[in-house]
Amino acid sequence: MLKVNDLHKSYQVGKTTYEVLKGVSFEIKKGEFVAVMGPSGSGKTTLLNCISCYIPADRGSIMLGKTELASLSQEQLATVRNKELGFVFQDFLLLDGLSVRDNILLPAIIGGSVDPDTERRADELCRIFGISDIREKYPAEISGGEKQRTAVARALINRPMMILADEPTGNLDSKSSRAVIDSFLQARQAMGATIFMVTHDSFAASFCDRAIILRDGQVWRSLERGDMDRTAFQDTLLDSVREMGRE
Ligand SMILES: Nc1ncnc2c1ncn2[C@@H]1O[C@H](COP(=O)(O)OP(=O)(O)O)[C@@H](O)[C@H]1O
Ligand SMILES: [Mg+2]
Repeated sequence: MLKVNDLHKSYQVGKTTYEVLKGVSFEIKKGEFVAVMGPSGSGKTTLLNCISCYIPADRGSIMLGKTELASLSQEQLATVRNKELGFVFQDFLLLDGLSVRDNILLPAIIGGSVDPDTERRADELCRIFGISDIREKYPAEISGGEKQRTAVARALINRPMMILADEPTGNLDSKSSRAVIDSFLQARQAMGATIFMVTHDSFAASFCDRAIILRDGQVWRSLERGDMDRTAFQDTLLDSVREMGRE
């Protein structure tokens, strides 16, 4: 599904080069729910932005399905972003002037194809996420939890290969965080969605199948949940974070 190999990325600030990703490699399978963790500044957002095709990597490869992203033109990258990737942002970025239903349809509108099939899919997503009754409402008229579910439904409207989320629970209390995580779990169960979630929150990460922990621009550790229950996995993650702090 996603195969990242030996990814390097540095930023040039004035005369200084900052190496942010120093050979990151990992793979994500279809239907997996994976967290990317690591301290602030460890390169999580940079990694996500490379996979999203927002910034070009310096070296290494990113294969999404059978496509090597570095080989694509700007136009092809825009299509990949619109059709193959679904995005969930920290503050959800719903458009105030559009109804819940039109917000969900937005990626399809941008992609130029709102056919009856897509409209049926929007209605199905509303049903899956329990927002059918509010689909004609506007963002200002709905609760935080409903906004989150709308944002996740929107990320799924074009049936992307993968959902990318950067700190989707970052600004939320624990109850709302739980609502976001639940909608990811639901998306996976109902549609087999593959989810790649950047988070520094071990609570959010503990719901995932696996956590990839970055440090200093490299994969420091990859932890499988296996048959651990959620709290045991959260303890494992916390132990790892503490261990990293000590090293
Ligand atoms: N556009 C940029 N130009 C220069 N430095 C950047 C840029 N974006 C991020 N950085 C630096 O790269 C490092 C990693 O940032 P980031 O990927 O946002 O980390 P994280 O999301 O893990 O907190 C930080 O030191 C940050 O200051
Ligand atoms: Mg970040």
